Amino acid sequence: MTDVVSYERHGTIGVITVNNPPVNALSVGVRRGIVDSLSRGLADGAATALVIMGGGRTFIAGADIREFGQPLAPPDLNEVIAWFEDSPKLVVAALHGTALGGGLEVALGCHYRCAVGSAQVGFPEVKLGLLPGAGGTQRLPRLIGVEPALPIIAGGDPLPASKAQALGIIDEIVAGDLRDGAVAFAARLVAERRPLRKISASDGKVLTARSTPGLFDAFRGSIERQARGYFAPFRCVEAVQAAVTLPFAEGLRRERELFLECMQSPQSRAQIHAFFAEREVTKIPDVPKETPTQPIMTAAVIGAGTMGGGIAMNFANAGIPVQVVEAAQTALDRGIEVIRNNYAATVEKGRLTQADMDRRLALIHGTLAWDAVADADIVIEAVFEEMGVKKEVFARLDRICKPSAILATNTSTLDVDEIATATARPEKVIGTHFFSPANVMRLLEVVRGAKSSKETIATVAELARRIRKVWVLAGNCDGFIGNRMLAGYLREAAFLVEEGASPEQVDKVIYDFGFPMGPFAMSDLAGLDVGWRIRKGKAATRPTTQRYSPVADRLCERGRFGQKTGAGWFRYAPGSRTPRPDPEVEALIVASARAQGIERRAVSDDEILERCIYPLINEGARILEEGIALRPSDIDIIYIYGYGFPPYRGGPMYYADTLGLKRVYDDIAAYHRAHGEFWQPAPLLTRLAEEGKGFRDLARA
Ligand SMILES: NC(=O)c1ccc[n+]([C@@H]2O[C@H](COP(=O)([O-])OP(=O)(O)OC[C@H]3O[C@@H](n4cnc5c(N)ncnc54)[C@H](O)[C@@H]3O)[C@@H](O)[C@H]2O)c1
Repeated sequence: MTDVVSYERHGTIGVITVNNPPVNALSVGVRRGIVDSLSRGLADGAATALVIMGGGRTFIAGADIREFGQPLAPPDLNEVIAWFEDSPKLVVAALHGTALGGGLEVALGCHYRCAVGSAQVGFPEVKLGLLPGAGGTQRLPRLIGVEPALPIIAGGDPLPASKAQALGIIDEIVAGDLRDGAVAFAARLVAERRPLRKISASDGKVLTARSTPGLFDAFRGSIERQARGYFAPFRCVEAVQAAVTLPFAEGLRRERELFLECMQSPQSRAQIHAFFAEREVTKIPDVPKETPTQPIMTAAVIGAGTMGGGIAMNFANAGIPVQVVEAAQTALDRGIEVIRNNYAATVEKGRLTQADMDRRLALIHGTLAWDAVADADIVIEAVFEEMGVKKEVFARLDRICKPSAILATNTSTLDVDEIATATARPEKVIGTHFFSPANVMRLLEVVRGAKSSKETIATVAELARRIRKVWVLAGNCDGFIGNRMLAGYLREAAFLVEEGASPEQVDKVIYDFGFPMGPFAMSDLAGLDVGWRIRKGKAATRPTTQRYSPVADRLCERGRFGQKTGAGWFRYAPGSRTPRPDPEVEALIVASARAQGIERRAVSDDEILERCIYPLINEGARILEEGIALRPSDIDIIYIYGYGFPPYRGGPMYYADTLGLKRVYDDIAAYHRAHGEFWQPAPLLTRLAEEGKGFRDLARA
């Protein structure tokens, strides 16, 4: 008997309890322990039935991810589950917390399942590029039918207990104490002489599916867009298909093969990297978890434009009352109307109740009176991107706000330290860089000013958690992490079209790589005027010897601001978001190339990919060396959550490691020889390449 699993009898029912904190992961010790406890229960003459449950805060929440990729020590989980299923005494799984992955598979090996109302069940494996590999894909469709099983297995989202009960995954919801309830439930099943239900032996539901050919193709079609580029979701479908076409034992073997294919795919490794990166990203060495935070009870947002409105919704969604201050009534009315319409659209889709919408709207107070911010615990400024305006706003906030209030800026490019000089509380000034649309995008770059206090950082971190953002700490520099890297990506995209590629070719290469859209469609979506205004501000300081593509400026001069004006790099039919190539743009590109003496040529897809992605990596290396980002994996998180970098490639820095930094360095050095200064290899990249190392070695240092 291992100490992570215990056996005790309660009346006539033997109870097996897993105690492997924090989440009762199915490590080898747990697998051995539950087998030993099962034997004890079977040998216990006074036990008429058995219950398996988790100690602490959850049932078994899944496999032990630390054991992934290593040869698994016996017993194999499939064997463990078979022993439970074949048990001559009735076994009930009693669920609370999260019964996920291998945990749910164990539960499906039991004859019956009960749960507390707050429990969740699910198969999240697909999110790590895997599939349930211990019978989940064979038993779940047998239990609840193929159609409901497919989205659970190939989608990976957990289900609440009520839904699981409605589907038949859970037989009984227990009110009150779970152990008492489960023991009573098991005793009742015995008293009623209920059969030992072996899911593996009940083929009825999978047989029905045989008469619905086309079911699997239809499901594949339904996930095609969302799962584009991913390997695992389609293997999940194949595994469920095996449950329909093969006898149970053969289906299990097929599931195992598919599981191993997933496990050995580079995608799974990349997705597991992203999983751990997300857990690590909030660890700030000099701002430990115990750092004191200020309570945030009320908030204010300055500016009700594109970003201000979305930011205000974040507060309201978390139940935090928020004052929204505008300069003019028309702008305020428009801003509040956009918020209302956003909520209404969510209600329409059935993802929010009208009552919740009303509650949230009631938390948002629009006003022109600045005094309204006097009591706010935090103020987030989202006015025009101009230093003069920002400083004026911060000076005013500093006068009006209570001394303890945190003053945050949503600037995307301006110097947070300079903004802080407009106040007498630079330690309370910080950047909170949201991504558009701010009520949807999960990423938040928290920009640490030179004087931002640890308490300010910790408070914003806690707030980010409450408003359910994935936050990443960034240093203060032009563009912070994400946009600073993006500059090179967009620059090369523009150069490539001047050299002979078309915007649609570039966008297709990037789309096929796995981004939701290419650089030109993305620029059209964000609005070309934003960058135009920034470039105009910097025009005076741009070295005249540097290559500069004026095409985007020419587009703006013609009023082509992107989707919002129906034209940008592409043309958009009224009411459509589909980019169409535009001969007018082609003419501008050709003219720009001619003016610069560029001879246009056929540009290969490979060159497009390298010239767009390598600048991300090279600039990322500089950002790491300067300490603007704490870890390479932080950069990966920013790109996955903020820019749509395909998670199955792990983020730009991880992707660079998979290519090998020597190769990346050699290619960048070759582009440097061909194209000059923009391609100067970053010193850190050079060093790592010379030492035969990867960014991953940095993380361990
Ligand atoms: N749009 C984006 O994608 C995006 C993304 C991240 C960050 N940002 C940053 O967010 C900030 C706001 O950008 P946006 O796109 O929401 O701009 P926007 O033009 O849509 O909104 C700005 C709003 O601020 C109001 N405003 C201007 N001066 C004001 C003042 N003195 N007092 C009160 N209100 C004032 C304006 O009336 C306007 O409604 C900028 O710093 C921008 O760089 C924008």
